[in-house]
Amino acid sequence: MYLIIPTKANMLLVILIHTTYQLTITAQHNLTPYGTATQSSTHEGSVPQYAIQPPISNTYSKTLCSVTGLGRKQAWWMFNFSFGSAYITNIKIYYRVDYAHRMDGFKLYVINTSTIPPVGYLCYEDPDPGLPKITQTIPCHQLGKYVIYYDIKKDENEGPVIELCYVAINGCRKGMWGKGCSTTCPSICIGQHCHPENGSCVWGCDEQKCLNNRWDIQTGVCTEGCVREHSQFCNCNKCTYI
Ligand SMILES: *[C@@H]1O[C@H](CO)[C@@H](O)[C@H](O)[C@H]1NC(C)=O
Ligand SMILES: *[C@@H]1O[C@H](CO)[C@@H](O)[C@H](O)[C@H]1NC(C)=O
Ligand SMILES: *[C@@H]1O[C@H](CO)[C@@H](O)[C@H](O)[C@H]1NC(C)=O
Repeated sequence: MYLIIPTKANMLLVILIHTTYQLTITAQHNLTPYGTATQSSTHEGSVPQYAIQPPISNTYSKTLCSVTGLGRKQAWWMFNFSFGSAYITNIKIYYRVDYAHRMDGFKLYVINTSTIPPVGYLCYEDPDPGLPKITQTIPCHQLGKYVIYYDIKKDENEGPVIELCYVAINGCRKGMWGKGCSTTCPSICIGQHCHPENGSCVWGCDEQKCLNNRWDIQTGVCTEGCVREHSQFCNCNKCTYI
């Protein structure tokens, strides 16, 4: 028989887990109000914007879902952030109900250029065999300017077709983090780039921000501490007091 004895160490662990969990939840911020949606072609007036407008559901109608033209060789749906780059955490997709066979084989990219076929980070590719779930949350921790849903796998009769009923792109614009992305990333982060969930530097700390401009050339650690009280965000082993 084992007893869990509450010690200071595991109490702290519980608090830490709890805090991380809360930070992750509150950092969810849908970025689709800030930018434009486009797609390869449009079927009967079902414009790309319908995918970023409510309702949040798989329910299909011509005015609820975006639909690309039938009988094409490829199909894509693209979102372009108006503010430039975003650090994405995940992408939620609600595809047309009962049409998983059209979703089959889709690819999701986060990229910096709008070229087609997409060239850049492939967040997810629907695997074979089997049909995909029509509602998915796809994690993709990436900095990028565009999100592209891409499909070249043919539906039996119509060629590749995309029918997105709702899409949410969660994350923050580059340089912001926290609840509603309302906190500025610490200036000590290289490129002022930090994780949307917790504000820690993605590319590490800028040694130039060391107190008195002094750091260890070998390790990058600030030998006299950091400029101002930034160190709480630096988990990169640089810019810590030694
Ligand atoms: C994306 O949006 C930016 C800013 O609004 C604009 O300058 C750029 O031309 C757009 N790119 C495409 C491919 O539409
Ligand atoms: C976009 O460019 C930035 C640098 O400006 C780079 O860090 C990032 O990884 C690129 N994103 C992708 C998806 O290639
Ligand atoms: C912040 O979040 C990122 C992404 O989830 C994670 O990799 C990193 O370890 C976190 N940093 C801290 C200090 O918790």
